[in-house]
Amino acid sequence: MSTEKSKRKILATSALPYANGAIHIGHLVEYIQTDIWVRHQKMSGHECHYICADDTHGTPVMLRAEQEGITPEALIERMHKEHLQDFTDFYIAFDNYYSTNSVENCDLAQDIYRRLKKDGLIDIRSIEQFFDPVKEMFLSDRYIKGECPKCHASDQYGDACEVCGATYSPTDLINPVSAISGATPVKKHSDHHFFKLSQCRAYLDQWTRPHSETADSNSSPLQKEAANKLAEWFDAGLRDWDISRDAPYFGFEIPDAPGKYLYVWLDAPIGYMASFKNLCERQGIDFDEYWNPDSTTELYHFIGKDILYFHALFWPATLHFSGYRTPNKIFVHGFLTVNGQKMSKSRGTFINARTYLKHLDPEYLRYYFAAKLNDRIEDLDLNLEDFSARVNSDLVGKYINIASRTAGFIKKSFSGQLADISHDQDKMILNKLQQATNTIQLHYEGRRYSEGIRLIMDLADHANAYINDHEPWKTIKDPTQQERTHQVCSTGINLFRLLTLFLKPILPQLAQQVEDFLNIPPLQWRDAETILVNHEIKPYKHLAKRIEQQQIDALLADSRESISVKEPETHSQTRHAETQQHTSPPIAETITIDDFAKIDLRIARILNAEYVEGADKLLRLTLDIGGETRNVFAGIRSKYKPDELLGRHTVVVANLAPRKMRFGTSEGMVLAAGPGGTELWLLQPDEGATAGMQVK
Ligand code: MSP
Ligand code: ZN
Repeated sequence: MSTEKSKRKILATSALPYANGAIHIGHLVEYIQTDIWVRHQKMSGHECHYICADDTHGTPVMLRAEQEGITPEALIERMHKEHLQDFTDFYIAFDNYYSTNSVENCDLAQDIYRRLKKDGLIDIRSIEQFFDPVKEMFLSDRYIKGECPKCHASDQYGDACEVCGATYSPTDLINPVSAISGATPVKKHSDHHFFKLSQCRAYLDQWTRPHSETADSNSSPLQKEAANKLAEWFDAGLRDWDISRDAPYFGFEIPDAPGKYLYVWLDAPIGYMASFKNLCERQGIDFDEYWNPDSTTELYHFIGKDILYFHALFWPATLHFSGYRTPNKIFVHGFLTVNGQKMSKSRGTFINARTYLKHLDPEYLRYYFAAKLNDRIEDLDLNLEDFSARVNSDLVGKYINIASRTAGFIKKSFSGQLADISHDQDKMILNKLQQATNTIQLHYEGRRYSEGIRLIMDLADHANAYINDHEPWKTIKDPTQQERTHQVCSTGINLFRLLTLFLKPILPQLAQQVEDFLNIPPLQWRDAETILVNHEIKPYKHLAKRIEQQQIDALLADSRESISVKEPETHSQTRHAETQQHTSPPIAETITIDDFAKIDLRIARILNAEYVEGADKLLRLTLDIGGETRNVFAGIRSKYKPDELLGRHTVVVANLAPRKMRFGTSEGMVLAAGPGGTELWLLQPDEGATAGMQVK
């Protein structure tokens, strides 16, 4: 197999998680996917460096630090520790987990900026933006709230209305306020630095095409779905990219531009290089060999589908035009859902890495994700029932079972010594597994982990059938069959060893325990060629426990409880623009009791709820407000399904002027708490209240 000659030099990255939130199981899809791939490369004997870091810059970190009364540096240091601990406990083995707020990154980012500027790819233009006169800072769209210019819903963000779905610019909002200070923003001009992406079209066009002349689909840097997405973006036209932000901003200063900072998304991917540079300095690796434009080393980025634009357009353009190599491939994965739905705090399915670890074995999640992952951009579902069933039947019932049915006899009756293997039947089953090694390796290489696992479990079935056929628990009692029993159990242990090797990229910790039990050095792919004979193993200790339903219940309950900590949940298009954080808007102006009395609030019973065609935010509700029914459109679709609402009581503003909408007239407004989207909680009266009752 792989000889010294074919030794590859590989740099692999996972996206850099934002430093202002905890790691959750959605993130883990990506880090587990990459870690499995990297471990596979290392087991093949290749030089493979796995690089990551915290993505530390931007307004959300700055504001959160301010809220906590600490410096951004102190905040990101704490988050770095937490993140790294979470990853380590999930056996994600980075070669370097660094920070984008590093000297290396500052030097690289400023240097890249200078190179782009020298190439004439930076343009300075004055743009007009909202400015918070109290905080003395410019406000990005997500930090401005106001009344929707279309449907007049209040408390909408500066880029889109969550009630009617309209998109607009923040300057269109009626009565805009700063979500940070509550002040009325003023319009102000400022110079911004733009990267002229519009001039990179020809290069990017060429970059996205398959690189080799054979037009082999494998030579394209992008999966098919990603390439299609890019084609759409090309058709829509590439717009120049605003890469500067005005002070105050937590980030790197732009050279020779006082008060201007590099936008976080410019320095974030450069963080891949900086983290690697830091590793090179510590371990004497040649940084330039990996990053020069003619490099023969391989560079791969694993990312989620939400950040494709940054990685497939901005990033290769930035690299190419500043004189560096570009990625060989970008591996994009889909998003995680739990029990078929978006992770949700109220359902307890917004599960942080740390919360999971309190209740369940990290390798079970690694196994389940692997069993679901393939090379496409599909979303994947963590179905908790299926999760327990799968782990219990595959890992405990099939794989571990092979060892527990044979190891005891070896120790008790054969003083821990494995026999020589000469019987044809034994050789045949061992051969069957050995011969699958190459296919399994190819599945790992191609990120078709689910296919790999299907094959491995099929082999485990064969191994179990072999043991069933030979019934060592019966033959062990027959003094004339001792030698044969010894051979069968030794074959069983060897089958277990091969399956352990096959699963090792996914279950590194379990593999290490097995290596210890078998008394062997760390398994590598080439070990599939050999069989363990005339070798002493250690006593067998049980290796894995079944998942019990109580553990799942406790995990959900615990996740529901830790929801008071605000965490990013929405993945809107603008999530990556600036914000990860919802600040509650300031308390409104004082009113009198008479003002309040003007609002007629009533208890309503939801008689019917249905989707509204063409409106992705709205549900049409039919309300009983005590002898009278009302038709109300409510912007709660991202959070509630119609069935969940039937028969529920809530509170409605009964004397609101009817409003004509695209879909019909809305005759009232139901009340809910929270900023909107999925972070929304419909009000519900205490038990006993009935439709029509007045709320005062
Ligand atoms: N900081 C940026 C990445 C900068 S890379 C130069 C970022 N951070 S993130 O914390 O929001 O996400 C990190 C990675 O986790 C991204 O690739 C993202 O797609 C992935 N995921 C975040 N939530 C996810 C799910 N629910 N499911 C699957 N992957 C998810 O983006
Ligand atoms: Zn609206």
